[in-house]
Amino acid sequence: MEADDIDIKKIRRENSGKRKKIASENTQHDAASHYTDNPVIISAKDITKSFRMGRTNLRVLKGVDVQVHRGQFMAITGSSGSGKSTLLHLLGGLDRPDTGMVEFNGCNIADYSAGKLNKYRNKNVGFVFQFYHLLDELTVLENILLPVMASAGTIAWLAKSSKAKKAAMDLLELVGLADRAKQKSYQLSGGERQRVAIARALINKPDIILADEPTGNLDSKTGNGILNLFEDLNRAGQTIIMVTHDELIAHRTHNVVKLVDGKIE
Ligand SMILES: Nc1ncnc2c1ncn2[C@@H]1O[C@H](COP(=O)(O)OP(=O)(O)O)[C@@H](O)[C@H]1O
Ligand SMILES: [Mg+2]
Repeated sequence: MEADDIDIKKIRRENSGKRKKIASENTQHDAASHYTDNPVIISAKDITKSFRMGRTNLRVLKGVDVQVHRGQFMAITGSSGSGKSTLLHLLGGLDRPDTGMVEFNGCNIADYSAGKLNKYRNKNVGFVFQFYHLLDELTVLENILLPVMASAGTIAWLAKSSKAKKAAMDLLELVGLADRAKQKSYQLSGGERQRVAIARALINKPDIILADEPTGNLDSKTGNGILNLFEDLNRAGQTIIMVTHDELIAHRTHNVVKLVDGKIE
């Protein structure tokens, strides 16, 4: 029994070392410096956003300012319907603010060409959603490779594919699912699917991970595992903005901002 215990511990230790190595290889920035010493990578400046609801106008964001430094792990909280997802979509270039702007490395993303905006969504940011949004009929490996396929043409994909597959396998190891590469994603549990979604978000080495309630559909133990993974990634230098309505989860990040009545409290 004792021997078994020690072996398991040893494997865990080795895995954890490997995970940290892969995590740090996957980020391009200096993990050693404290995030406040790093430049601001993304900011929302006085953003407003309304939605038309029949004849009325629903004012969701009423002048929101957020600033995130490279290497920072920030949580955005707020009650249901407070505009957390709306803000995350604006930061990720999935939607446009009515007024105000989103700046990435000091440039207003509204000034980007269509091509550059696509690249921003596909390469500069990586999205993780509450309900994973994997393609069920594809294998785990294929799901992780989708963002690479989407950003490369057919010819470029042929040239890149073996390197990309190796990178995807490394990420599967990072998220603890190396032995599941060939399984269809619908065969996995919720927590495992979210790990695959995180690997997919990482495959293009994004500057920023944008995660919308990534633990919202998971039991607390599984959610905790996902948060440990985010913490490892952040320690290796990954910038992360995570929406959550769970205060306990939020307080494991560097700082928490709260949306109340359309503004940051
Ligand atoms: N595309 C949309 N069209 C109309 N209303 C929307 C749209 N997206 C969000 N809303 C509304 O905006 C409010 C904020 O939504 P959301 O950002 O999803 O909140 P949260 O993520 O904090 O729960 C909600 O009342 C929601 O119904
Ligand atoms: Mg939401």
